[in-house]
Formats: sequence, structure tokens, C-alpha cells
Amino acid sequence: MAYTVPKLKDFSAAALDKAVEKLLAALEEESKAVSDGAEWKAFRDRWMARKNGVLTQINEVWLKAAPKEAKRAVGQRVNDLNAKVETCVDETKERCDHLRDRGISEKARAEEYGRHVDWAKRALELSEHLDITLPGIRRPLGAEHPVIKTMNEIVSVFRNLGYSVEEGPEIETDYYNFEALNFPPNHPARDTQDTLFVAGQESKPLRDRLLLRTHTSPVQIRTMEKMKPPVRVVCPGKVHRNDAPDATHSPIFHQIEGLAVDTNITLCDLKGTLDHAMKALFGSSVKTRFFPSFFPFTEPSADVSISCIFCGGKGYRDGGRCPNCKASGWIELLGCGMVDPNVYGFVDYDPKKVSGFAFGMGVERIAILKYGVDDIQLFFQGDVRFLEQFG
Ligand code: PHE
Repeated sequence: MAYTVPKLKDFSAAALDKAVEKLLAALEEESKAVSDGAEWKAFRDRWMARKNGVLTQINEVWLKAAPKEAKRAVGQRVNDLNAKVETCVDETKERCDHLRDRGISEKARAEEYGRHVDWAKRALELSEHLDITLPGIRRPLGAEHPVIKTMNEIVSVFRNLGYSVEEGPEIETDYYNFEALNFPPNHPARDTQDTLFVAGQESKPLRDRLLLRTHTSPVQIRTMEKMKPPVRVVCPGKVHRNDAPDATHSPIFHQIEGLAVDTNITLCDLKGTLDHAMKALFGSSVKTRFFPSFFPFTEPSADVSISCIFCGGKGYRDGGRCPNCKASGWIELLGCGMVDPNVYGFVDYDPKKVSGFAFGMGVERIAILKYGVDDIQLFFQGDVRFLEQFG
């Protein structure tokens, strides 16, 4: 039963000591039961609250009620009890704080320990399924595709000469792919035998009909439409032709177009530029040869051959005909020419003021020669055994 302050009838020393002893016993017992902050606050208020705390009560019930001759003895004991209760309340608080701190660290320690246990348990479980003596999982490294690798190499040769890179759409209009490049309306390249047209375009005017670009030359037009001379660009990209695939043909392949337009650009600049580029790509001993050709958008036009890199231009090797150049000593590689003045009319350049050259080369063709590949289809089949050789 909870302690209540008794009224005293007997104020003798012995009776007072007994009452004090009872109070202290109750104090100690109640202090022991306190284990957290909230309980401690209730405990402190019960004993020390000014209004109705036990100390206030003993003041009222013991001291004030004491007969005159007992006042001194009661007063001493009440003072003594004040001090003792205060000390006890303080100590109880300390004990609570200590309990609380230890509780927190013990909880943390238990959690940490739990983690170790978890980890150890999991490791044990896993080891039942996992044979750590097995070889590891190898992650295969990818390699740059030989076509992209060659394309980047060609682009970088021209970048070093001050050319920048332009790209254009793969689905083009007839206008950019043919008309603005000075193709006459009935040119055979416009035939569905050679060009893949987007279906259902027949109701549109010819120039607006969509097709898969057959060369990168439309990017020449797009570039000149948005840039004034001087222009020096290379335009790499994918092109499409209505060809059946075989060892030397693919309906999809890649080209790099080049265009330089400025004042006083001559055929000499074209020859020097391409001769340098071929030497940079195939080695400095390679020679170039230009011979007349025809493209609607260049005048004059030329095809360029390089001296055969397999037989050194001799036409024979290993005691026989060189199969790579068919014993001619030359390999035909690209088309080029001086931009036809008619083309400038389509892009608002003044043909009296500017001149320029253009060239176009097939990337697969160059990769085939550089890497000694004997079938263009290998570039498109995705066989890792082929591709990984270029890593
Ligand atoms: N566009 C031409 C082709 O695809 C190549 C070329 C480009 C020729 C630029 C001359 C100038 O055959």
C-alpha cells in the first residue's frame, strides 16, 4: 500500500525516529520502482511538489502540529528528511539517465550483433549452394565494329585537314537525293531497279517523294543550304540501293562524302587532298591515279584508283597474277569531281565566285581492303568470331 503521512500523537524521540524510519523505507522502496523519465517525474512530484508533496505534508502534519516543546526535535528531523528526499530524488534521476543511456547502446549493440549473425547465417546458407572453387563468370569485352572503326579513321584523316562532320537523313526526298544534284528526270538511278522508294508516294510531285538515300551526296546540298562558303565537310552515313546481296554487294552500306567549296579551289586541290588521304589510310607508299568518269553533280568527274596494296602495284605476286587487282596494279576506290556549277544554282551560291570539289567513298570497300576481308556480308552477319578480331 502506498505510503501516506500519518498524524502523530506521540512526539517522543523514539516515536519520531520510528515515523522517520517508516518514511525513509517508503522513499527507498518507491525510488527503486522508478525506471524511466516519466516515472521519475511522478516520483519527484509525489515527494517534493510544493502543493501536497510528502515533504510539504510532513511540514504541515508533523512540524506545525507539534507541541511547543517538541518543535525543535521535529524541526531537525524534518530538515534532515528534506535533504534526504532531495538527495534520493537526484540519485533516482541519475540512475534513470544511466539506464536510458545503457539501454540505447545495448539496443544498438544487439542490432549490430544481429547483423553479424544475419551475415554469418546467410554466408552459411549460400555456401551450401555455391561452389567457390568454380571459375568466375567472364564478361566478354565488346569491340568496335570494323565498319564504324574504318569510318572513324577516315573521318579523322579529314578532321586533321580542318574538315568538320555533317550528317543528314537516311530517308530523303527525290529533290535532295537527285534533283538538286543535277540528275535529269529520266536518269536510270531514279529507277526502282536501283533505288528503294517509300511506298504510296505516287500522288506527290516527284521532288517530294520519299526514298532511302542512295548516296551521301544529298548532305552536300543540305550543308550548302545552311552554310555560306568556305565549306569543308565530310558526311559519313548509311546508304541503300536495290541490290541483291553477294560477296561484293549489300543493299545497305556506308559512304563518306566530302565537300570543299571556297574561292579558287582547283582540281589540284582535289588531287592533293585525296592523294594525302589515301596515303594516310593505306600507307605512304600508296600511289593514286585519277581517270575520267561521270557524275551528274561534278564536272569534270573522276574515278580514283590506288596502287594495289597487295602486290605493291606490280600486278603480280607469289609468282603469279595478283588476284586483288586482277593483275592491273590498281584498285578502283572512289568517285570525285569539281562541283558542277548547276548545283550551286540550287543552293544560292554564285558559281562565278566560288568553286569546289566533292568526293564519295564506300566505307565497306575500304575496310575490305584494309583488313583483307573477302566477303562484304561478314560485316552484317554479326558473327562474334569475325567481329572480335577487330577488338
Ligand atoms: N555519290 C557518288 C556515288 O555514290 C560518289 C561521289 C560523291 C562522286 C561525290 C563524286 C562526288 O557513287
